[in-house]
Amino acid sequence: MKHLIDIKSLSTEEINKIATRALELKNGAKPLSCKGKQVAMIFFENSTRTYFSFEMALNKLGANIYNFETSKSSITKGEGFFDTVNNLAAIGFDACIVRTTEEGLIKRTIEYENKGRKFFKPISLINAGEGTLSHPTQALLDFVTIKEHFKNLEGLNLVIIGDIRHSRVAKSNIELLSRFGINIKCVAPAYFKDETLKNIEWSDNLEKTVQNADIVMALRIQKERIQGIIEFEDYIKNYQLKEKNIPEKCILMHPGPVNRDVEASSALLDSKKGATILKQTHNGVFTRMAILETLFEEGKSND
Ligand code: CP
Repeated sequence: MKHLIDIKSLSTEEINKIATRALELKNGAKPLSCKGKQVAMIFFENSTRTYFSFEMALNKLGANIYNFETSKSSITKGEGFFDTVNNLAAIGFDACIVRTTEEGLIKRTIEYENKGRKFFKPISLINAGEGTLSHPTQALLDFVTIKEHFKNLEGLNLVIIGDIRHSRVAKSNIELLSRFGINIKCVAPAYFKDETLKNIEWSDNLEKTVQNADIVMALRIQKERIQGIIEFEDYIKNYQLKEKNIPEKCILMHPGPVNRDVEASSALLDSKKGATILKQTHNGVFTRMAILETLFEEGKSND
């Protein structure tokens, strides 16, 4: 694995390897050293969980971390992203962790290599969330959290609720979890549906659809990606999750950030059922450590 672009570009073997290693690290396995690796954090969008869990993971692996302040960089003077990354390679960086609104940016940058441009030296790009398109590290940490809870994933029923249309988390999770035999249904009002998605069933009846769920995944309304009026009152009335909606055997997931009393009631979030959400955040550190170990595999040692 040289880059982490999206879930599609990972083999099932790679996904299983990352998940197994993440749980080993969580259970106290010694991290493999990535000492001497230089990693830039390039975040064009805000983040709490992804940014700091990558930073924590890199610290635990002994790598050096640099925050690329996008507003103070020469991107503001018109420098393109390929040239930015290539100059970071020339400075000595080994990897860039990138969050962007620009869909396809990471793949395009890597593909320039096949079109005659050369990187100064090898440099890895890791997708930390790309527009509405993909968030592979979130899907991987969700996979780890589900595996930790259920062991056997085949035939589980997952219901994803909310703003599917603008959610990169939903898209990466659908891609990953359908590969492992999980049945996926999506519940959303018409204004949040994305009928182009494959391997799922749609419903607009929250109570009925959630009845047989093993996993319920709520999503935040992506205000920053929506132009026009958001139907908050309609959404809260018909799609907000409450304690009574979640079957006893079922776990509640949410990638965060949570908007309390919009996608889920505060009472539900503060109940025992809400605990899995912070477990997802916690597992994000170990999952990202496992991803970084895999990326830096060739140069790693046990020192
Ligand atoms: N889940 C997620 O990507 O959260 P952040 O935006 O806080 O990184």
